[in-house]
Amino acid sequence: MNLVSSIKNSTLAAKRAIGNFRRPSAKANALKLQARGENPASIIIREALPGDIPALATVHVKAWAETYENARHLPDFQLRERQWRQQFEVTDGSWFCIIAESPKGEFVGFAKGRAYKHSDLADFSGELNKIYLLRDYQRLGLGSKLLCEVARRFLDKGIGSMILFGESTNPSGYFHEAMGAAKIYGDHGEFHGSYGWRDLRKLAAKCA
Ligand SMILES: CC(C)(COP(=O)(O)OP(=O)(O)OC[C@H]1O[C@@H](n2cnc3c(N)ncnc32)[C@H](O)[C@@H]1OP(=O)(O)O)[C@@H](O)C(=O)NCCC(=O)NCCS
Repeated sequence: MNLVSSIKNSTLAAKRAIGNFRRPSAKANALKLQARGENPASIIIREALPGDIPALATVHVKAWAETYENARHLPDFQLRERQWRQQFEVTDGSWFCIIAESPKGEFVGFAKGRAYKHSDLADFSGELNKIYLLRDYQRLGLGSKLLCEVARRFLDKGIGSMILFGESTNPSGYFHEAMGAAKIYGDHGEFHGSYGWRDLRKLAAKCA
C-alpha cells in the first residue's frame, strides 16, 4: 500500500467512526423495542413474495433515507416499487430477498442476494446486493439473522462466496467486519467500501 492510499484510508476510517456516533446504540434500541412490546425473537425472517412488493418498497424508501441522510436525491416509493416489480419478474432463481417482519406484519428490514458473474473479482460468485434495517431495529441482532439467512440460501444454491459493494465511510462496515468479511482493496491499496466473504461455510458456521 502506498503512502497516499494509507492516508486516504485513515481519513475515510475516521469519517466512518464519526458517522457511527449517529447510529443508534444497542441499549437505546433494546429499550425502544421493549417499550413497543416487541422483542428480537418475535421478528420473523422469511423469503419475500411478489405480494410483498408495496411493503418492501416502503421499508426500502425509509431505511435508505435513514442510512444516507445527507443524500441530495432520495428515491421515492414509485421508483422503489417499480424496481422491485421488475426484479420479481426475473424468475430464473438468480436472486432472492429475505425480509424481517414484525408480529404486526410491518416490514423492518430486508436483504437481497444475487448471483455474481463478472470477470473482475471472479473469486466471488454471490453478491449481497442490499441489506437494510430501519434505524429503530438496528443493533438487535436482526442484521446478523438476515445475513446468516443469505449465506444459507447461497450455500444451498452451491454458491460459496459473497461480495458486497459498499461505501468506505458507511459505519455498517463494522457489522460486515464483525461478521467475518474482509476488506477488498484497490490496486494501490485504497479501500472503496467493498467487502468479501471468501468462504461462506465459515459464515454459516459462525451463524450456527
Ligand atoms: C448493517 C446492518 C444491516 C447491521 O444490522 P444490525 O442488526 O444493526 O447488526 P447486529 O445487531 O446483527 O450486529 C452484529 C454485530 O456487528 C457489529 N456491529 C453492528 N453494527 C455496528 C456498529 N454500528 N458499530 C460497531 N459494531 C457494529 C457488532 O459487533 C454486533 O454485535 P454486538 O451487537 O453483539 O456488539 C444495519 O445496521 C443497517 O441496516 N444499517 C443501515 C443500512 C446499511 O448501511 N446497510 C449496508 C449497506 S452496504
